[in-house]
Amino acid sequence: MPASATPAKLKVPFYGHGRQYHNIKREIDDAFHAVMESEAYVMGPALARFEKELAQYFAMKHAVGLNSGTDALWLAFLALGIQPGDEVITTANTFFATAEAIWIAGGKAVFVDSDPATNNIDPTKIEAAITPRTVGIVPVHLYGHCADMKAVSTIAKKHKLWVVEDNAQSIDAHGDGFKQGELSDAVCTSFIIQKNLGTYGDGGALITNRPDIEQAARRLRNHGSLKRSVHSFGFNSRLDDLHAAFLSVKLKHITNWTDQRRAWAKRYTDGLKGNSFKLPKELPGYRHVFHLYVIEHHKRDHLTQFLIDHGIDAKQHYPIAIHQQEGYPWGKLADPHPHVPNAERNAAQCVSLPMFPELTAEEVDYTIAKLKEWDAQFGW
Ligand SMILES: Cc1ncc(COP(=O)(O)O)c(C=O)c1O
Repeated sequence: MPASATPAKLKVPFYGHGRQYHNIKREIDDAFHAVMESEAYVMGPALARFEKELAQYFAMKHAVGLNSGTDALWLAFLALGIQPGDEVITTANTFFATAEAIWIAGGKAVFVDSDPATNNIDPTKIEAAITPRTVGIVPVHLYGHCADMKAVSTIAKKHKLWVVEDNAQSIDAHGDGFKQGELSDAVCTSFIIQKNLGTYGDGGALITNRPDIEQAARRLRNHGSLKRSVHSFGFNSRLDDLHAAFLSVKLKHITNWTDQRRAWAKRYTDGLKGNSFKLPKELPGYRHVFHLYVIEHHKRDHLTQFLIDHGIDAKQHYPIAIHQQEGYPWGKLADPHPHVPNAERNAAQCVSLPMFPELTAEEVDYTIAKLKEWDAQFGW
């Protein structure tokens, strides 16, 4: 659209859940009715089917449906045998749940700084953080761009550490010559509604090639039971059949939806080049799935407010690094003063633009036009 045709004011939402539902309403409604008529709502055939489809999609042996991405992470840590006080390396610029899962499992979160190019864990800084108590590494594929798993797994192998990938934001992404799950012990994902593959509520899954992790996750999610009435230690963390049925429908669309996200990301990037914003980067050979399209600017609060004032629902992911949170558990569970300047810069400068497949060209171009307007007035 030529600049002259940019409307004076448009409302651009951050999420498009309703639009997506209307595009696939028939399929979702059919899935809903099929589960309702089946009378199998918990641990039923819809869950078993989705687990099979998800494992196939990842080209891995097992997928275990769980009730959130957070549970997928900490149940993976329990399955791997984490003990109280064991140290787990991750990043401080991620959603709180990554570290929270380490704490729930009794571990200590050790933050390694991120690489400013991608905002993912900087593998060159991992070895310095390894101590005799270190048991594992949790790379987060932040915003939908994979961390450098080749480097992470080389270090993990050398030091005999496990690796659990936090894939909550990165379904359908791959790296340069590697796919998710190939270079780790387990992949943990989230199906909360706002994720690229999201259900109408909460959900998560653990995907692995290791039968011991799969069996442990199945046991732990169901009160320690793999056989009716026989229990060992466990919890209640099952993915309901209704959610599984919705996710089976949506999994068929994920590649097209990612391609559309990537097209909008390209449009943003082409339209914003040469301005004062730091734009997201896709490393050569990687497939970025743009769960979030995050730009960075040192005046980000002013920029965010400007966009909101002009009808664009901009957000910030994540404006407070984990160690800067009020709920940060100082002491045994976490490093009190991690040296993570890149993570802190990312937290201080991030602005997320509307990003979902059902955006329109008019909405993207309007957002670009407003960003340029702000840049000309305030971007110095
Ligand atoms: C990076 C990351 N890790 C973990 C989670 C936790 O997932 P859930 O909300 O399903 O518990 C999320 C999302 O919410 C996330 O973005």
